[in-house]
Amino acid sequence: MTKYIPEPQVVVLDTGGQYCHLIARKVRELGVYAEVQPCGTPLQALRDRRAIIISGGPNSVYEPDSPTVDPELFCLGVPVLGICYGLQLMAHLLGGSVTLGTKGEYGLALLSVVMPDSLFEGITQRQQVWMSHRDVVTALPPGFHAIASTDTCTVAAMSNPGRRLYGVQFHPEVAHTHRGTDMLRNFLFRICGCVKDWNPKHRISAIEERIREVAGDRNVFFFVSGGVDSTVAFTLCVRALGPQRTRGIYVDTGLMREGETEYVRNVFAALDGQSFMVVHAEDQFLCALAGICDPEQKRQVIGEEFVKIQQKVIEAEHFLDDRWILGQGTIYPDTIESGGTPQAAVIKTHHNRVPGIRRLMEMNRIIEPLSHFYKDEVREVGRELGLPEAFLERHPFPGPGLAIRCLCSRTGAVVQKVQHGWLLPIRSVGVQGDSRSYRPVLALDSFFDEKGGLQVRATELINRLSAINRIVAWVDGKVPLNRLALVPASLNKERLARLRLADAAVRRLSRESGFDRKVWQFPVILIPIGSPQMPDSVVLRPVDSVDGMTASSVYMEDDLLKRMATELLRIEGICAVFYDLTHKPPATIEWE
Ligand code: XMP
Repeated sequence: MTKYIPEPQVVVLDTGGQYCHLIARKVRELGVYAEVQPCGTPLQALRDRRAIIISGGPNSVYEPDSPTVDPELFCLGVPVLGICYGLQLMAHLLGGSVTLGTKGEYGLALLSVVMPDSLFEGITQRQQVWMSHRDVVTALPPGFHAIASTDTCTVAAMSNPGRRLYGVQFHPEVAHTHRGTDMLRNFLFRICGCVKDWNPKHRISAIEERIREVAGDRNVFFFVSGGVDSTVAFTLCVRALGPQRTRGIYVDTGLMREGETEYVRNVFAALDGQSFMVVHAEDQFLCALAGICDPEQKRQVIGEEFVKIQQKVIEAEHFLDDRWILGQGTIYPDTIESGGTPQAAVIKTHHNRVPGIRRLMEMNRIIEPLSHFYKDEVREVGRELGLPEAFLERHPFPGPGLAIRCLCSRTGAVVQKVQHGWLLPIRSVGVQGDSRSYRPVLALDSFFDEKGGLQVRATELINRLSAINRIVAWVDGKVPLNRLALVPASLNKERLARLRLADAAVRRLSRESGFDRKVWQFPVILIPIGSPQMPDSVVLRPVDSVDGMTASSVYMEDDLLKRMATELLRIEGICAVFYDLTHKPPATIEWE
């Protein structure tokens, strides 16, 4: 029997970076199985690895109690690559110095290779990289050379080839670092001598074997969302245990997009003979969410309501006896931003990691067949299982649904003219230097359609303005921008219906124009900014991404923007339309 998961050749040590799983995923994409482990992992457990990578993280190495590794790690003879904080930690522990830079470097930067090195073998001398840091290495440790730099950062990469120790300040694991994959490939195969041992498609029978092992003689019930992950996990359980032992329950939270429940019903109807049921809980969720404005609280409440419903269904369906366990479509990245690994700063709590679910996990009554797999790996598995391509390529949709795209406010306030535009009196979540931010939004009133120019301007502005984390452009409105105000609003049926209409209109136009193929996800957000008669505005948030960890705002043609705005302004209660120009970081994809 194939082992469910191989012994990892590569260990990514987590120093709290939200990118650490992304590094592991990139390594796996190169055919080498990698796992993430805490930075305090004992040396004994690392000795036999072919490579160690130290991730980025939100701390500063010179602060007391910041995450660290055993300095002996660098003497094991195992090659080490430090990324961002990992580079700084390597410099710090080996006798170099790290200090706070005079300015941050968040986003794209141009890297110049200043010294030939195996890490950059076959890579041109200058290329685009992605940065997210303020601390810099100001003195190299003995035996190291700076091998690349940017305008802002002299030590953008360093190495000590004799000891096979390497560090990069930029993030080779994100798609925006154009040759990042080649650098990782150089590190893994040229420097560390890794061999290919990983292909998710070849794991299917091992996963099924594992499901049978964990389930024993128990049956599995799933709360399915209609998303790729829970459907693939469900399908695997059906294959492993048979349809009679697998049950799918879909909860209609009332927070779904237009037509979603019917769509999911059809997808499951197409899978052979499983029982699938819909639980209607629209009012329960609305009641629980009434009056809540704080994003984290919304997530918490939604998670708790899910658990309550689960409990109710469990009782009603007699799942309470020991013959049943709960199946979930949790995948690796679901745990990243929730502090799933000990060091990660909490940026957003994902609902499948709220305390109720944790309790079920502690009782060992849970099965997550895909918890070691990344999104693309799940798609590959799904493809191999014969799930339809259109379904597998569905844009991701967050569990808490439209609730986190419908912003609320208890108070009113007016928009405020500031130097670069208008400050909208509403806050959204962001992620800067790996920590969460919750800051006001800046709206630009001028519009110029130089390709991508707006996004570049937005990045520059945000790097300079620490009070904001997100920039939107005004597209069109029934009231001029300077007369808009924050209108007290809660999450209610009326606003959800408004958002649903707006979302459906955007989806339709996006599909008809082919724009949906250019984006990874296209959230439509309702913000309580408008006038007393038309209390809401809509924000268009088209993003491109590989897995949601980093993302870029996607350029939209003027014509499409105008068409969308015209259509959206026809919806009752909608006052204005904005276009979100912010990359992640510094903003997150969702507003809450
Ligand atoms: P952010 O907003 O953190 O989103 O940049 C990254 C990706 O995660 C999705 N997302 C969620 N998915 N439960 C989910 O299942 C959640 O609570 C949640 N919050 C964000 C988001 O849609 C994007 O794809």
